[in-house]
Amino acid sequence: MSIEKKIKELLDKREQAKLGGGQKRIDTQHKKGKLTARERIDLLLDEGSFEEFDMFVTHRCTNFGLEKETYPSDGVVTGFGTIDGRLVYVFSQDFTVFGGSLSETFAQKICKIMDKAMKVGAPVIGINDSGGARIQEGVLSLAGYAEIFQRNIMASGVIPQISAIFGPCAGGAVYSPALTDFTIMTKKNSYMFVTGPKVVKSVTGEVVTDEELGGAMVHGSKSGVNHFVAEDEQEGILLIRKLLSYLPQNNLEDPPLSPNTDPIDRLDDALNEIIPENPNKPYDVKDVIHSLVDYGEFMEVQRHYAPNIVIGYAKFNGMPVGIVANQPNYLAGVLDINASRKAARFVRFCDAFNIPIVTLVDVPGFLPGTAQEYGGIIIHGAKLLYAYGEATVPKITITLRKSYGGAHDVMSCKQLRGDINYAWPSAEIAVMGGKGAIEVLYQKEIKAIENEAERTEFMNKKEAEYKEKFANPYNAAQYGYIDDVIEPRNTRFRIIRALQSISTKKDTNPPKKHSNIPL
Ligand code: HXC
Repeated sequence: MSIEKKIKELLDKREQAKLGGGQKRIDTQHKKGKLTARERIDLLLDEGSFEEFDMFVTHRCTNFGLEKETYPSDGVVTGFGTIDGRLVYVFSQDFTVFGGSLSETFAQKICKIMDKAMKVGAPVIGINDSGGARIQEGVLSLAGYAEIFQRNIMASGVIPQISAIFGPCAGGAVYSPALTDFTIMTKKNSYMFVTGPKVVKSVTGEVVTDEELGGAMVHGSKSGVNHFVAEDEQEGILLIRKLLSYLPQNNLEDPPLSPNTDPIDRLDDALNEIIPENPNKPYDVKDVIHSLVDYGEFMEVQRHYAPNIVIGYAKFNGMPVGIVANQPNYLAGVLDINASRKAARFVRFCDAFNIPIVTLVDVPGFLPGTAQEYGGIIIHGAKLLYAYGEATVPKITITLRKSYGGAHDVMSCKQLRGDINYAWPSAEIAVMGGKGAIEVLYQKEIKAIENEAERTEFMNKKEAEYKEKFANPYNAAQYGYIDDVIEPRNTRFRIIRALQSISTKKDTNPPKKHSNIPL
């Protein structure tokens, strides 16, 4: 065969492979409002940067006559490319081939790019759209999943792993995305569950749709499994690209610095006024965040889940940071089980990838009640405490208003190796709020006053005394637990200076096999 013919043969084979399961199935995919595996990769990566591996791989299964039905690439497109010029490895499951179901060779293709990503220290992005284990392959498929899980585990904390769920993701298949650092789901067509609606109905009698059981909003707001809810695949892909702009390539690198023209000493007078006089009145901590960070740009993570704590990424003078902030606008910013879990995982991710953490504190305490205690708030609250105490990245804490009790300790206090802890003049750093405190301290005296008006007068007087003594930042500052009390409008400048001063910080934990975080 002449070389021209050989090249034509190659090009024909490539064209054939690019058709996946065929034009009819591609059309069906499009009719559902979904892109194909390759279209998704093209959107995700810098134009022309994709290098595909294993295009000619086919499955080896002979069960149920499957040897007569093979498709080059075998249902998953894999390779590497760049995002904003930075190397990433990708896999994209192709629903047009056996419903994107996972075979032995399919799994091997994914493992190959994961191994390569680990060797060179580059993120892995997986796009999931699959009917789960390829039924005809039996246990080979299960083994394939486990090979991937093992790699997810080894890569955890070494390279960022991001999962997009752009179709079904069910059964054991959900555990690979769950092991990765971030998941992105779309409002339509995207669902994740361990057991589908049919099994649910037969076992529990509950009748639910795919979406009600495991749609993007369910996992974005109720379970916390999902980190980003996108309107559609295009938005989901943009979110992935944006997210990577805050992350280093691996745990040995620092996050990427970007040029910044937002003045570092920009004052915002509105911050001097943002805390209401009445300590029980809420305000939106996101207004504070937007005011402080470069260009007001904040990429919120898990926006719909446990909104009493806000987490996400922003930049200070071009330097990426993770922000954790109590949200007085929702449940008064109280720490509960979900908020603790949400923030703890975020703090640990930041720490694993050398991303400094800025914590904004306005927390009345932990949420009381049987639901929380029975649900294990002790162990979940301890997760956040543990995550902060274990973290060795630069940690800046700004107390805006309340910082009470155990929640004060948890929210990156000085003794949990907080590097620089500032407070606004409106800060109240104390064991507990005034009313609760005097009810404990003066319970005998209060009981002894029979006249209600007199009792109220006594309580108000004592509460005022307590507040005078404790509802301020100076008591903590007196002990050096707060490094300075700062003017709110100048907070951006003070954070940037603080971050600069500790950018070369080195801190370590004792050698151990691994820690035993209260899971
Ligand atoms: C082989 C599969 C398949 C599978 C779908 N297909 N799932 N082939 N193994 N798991 C094929 C279909 O036969 C069909 O082939 C094509 O993919 C598209 O499927 P449709 O059913 O026509 O598509 P749709 O109506 O959109 O429904 C999608 C679906 C459904 C909801 C995902 O296909 C489905 O329920 N599939 C089975 C899901 C499942 O039970 N998987 C095993 C879970 S257990 P043709 O030739 O018609 O195009 C599991 C364990 C993992 O995954 C454990 C890991 C630890």
